Amino acid sequence: MYTQTSILSMALLLAGSAIAAPYGASNTTIKSTLATSTITASRTTLLTSTTPAATYTPANHAASSSSSAVLPASSSTPPTTCSSTTPNPSLFAQLTLAPNSVERMALLSDNDFVFNFADPCKTTSAQGVTAGLGGKIVRADHATFPALVAQGGSVAIGFLGPCGFNTPHVHPRAAELNLVIEGRLFASVTAENGARHLNHTLNKWEMTVFPQGAVHTEFNPDCTDSVFVASFPSEDPGVGQIAQEFFGLENEIVKGSVGGETAVDGRDIDMFRSKIPANVAKGVDSCLAKCGIAKR
Ligand SMILES: *[C@@H]1O[C@H](CO)[C@@H](O)[C@H](O)[C@H]1NC(C)=O
Ligand SMILES: *[C@@H]1O[C@H](CO)[C@@H](O)[C@H](O)[C@H]1NC(C)=O
Repeated sequence: MYTQTSILSMALLLAGSAIAAPYGASNTTIKSTLATSTITASRTTLLTSTTPAATYTPANHAASSSSSAVLPASSSTPPTTCSSTTPNPSLFAQLTLAPNSVERMALLSDNDFVFNFADPCKTTSAQGVTAGLGGKIVRADHATFPALVAQGGSVAIGFLGPCGFNTPHVHPRAAELNLVIEGRLFASVTAENGARHLNHTLNKWEMTVFPQGAVHTEFNPDCTDSVFVASFPSEDPGVGQIAQEFFGLENEIVKGSVGGETAVDGRDIDMFRSKIPANVAKGVDSCLAKCGIAKR
């Protein structure tokens, strides 16, 4: 399992620009809109937010009365004290090739065993950060936190501003335990065809499980911040945002699967595609209205 995962990761790393291929997008518009950030992101996860990340700051989240005390400081101007926090790909390769745990440990410094989710120096996808106007998600997986190599698990923390919306997505290789540690979270999930739809409003210290591969989403229903911890029984759970993946398919396929020309015009698809927000998005309408946050 571990070996296969590592080989896959390395193959993807070596494959470089071929990473864009999973989209199957022959459309140059799609490619230019979606693929660039995907290629850079692909080393750490196969699919993360596929629009260039806008960095969350309390200011660009529009006027809302809440403070953002629980959110890490804005990442747009990292302090000069930042040491390099981008994991070194050759270290990852050495770790995956090491014959045993003792030798892996010898490759890592003491500091390599500590991952700071609130590190303001972490801003890029390669460092495990997915940011949008509604907040950010910081991911410690085996690529962003190499001490996880061969440990079999990973964790992501979601820092959601008021109404912050972790848009619908799947984790192809792991179930998710989602624990709310600040504020509340509305969680909605459909596990597979035929399974009933579930939703929950989770209070602080409550947890839910999203089955492996389930389409799920969460948003902060309140005008104050929310924080969740997501843990996965995989070092590389992966993530695929439904809207980006679906609208990343060829126009004709998108059109055919949503009811053909009578329901949706090809130009509409291009329009939808251009409007897909980067994750974490600002929020659903009812919450934005309640909190007085402008939609765009
Ligand atoms: C939760 O899901 C149920 C069943 O699908 C649905 O009827 C209900 O409206 C949902 N709740 C909210 C708050 O959207
Ligand atoms: C791709 O999008 C362009 C730009 O909107 C459109 O004109 C073209 O027909 C699309 N091509 C395919 C193959 O879907």
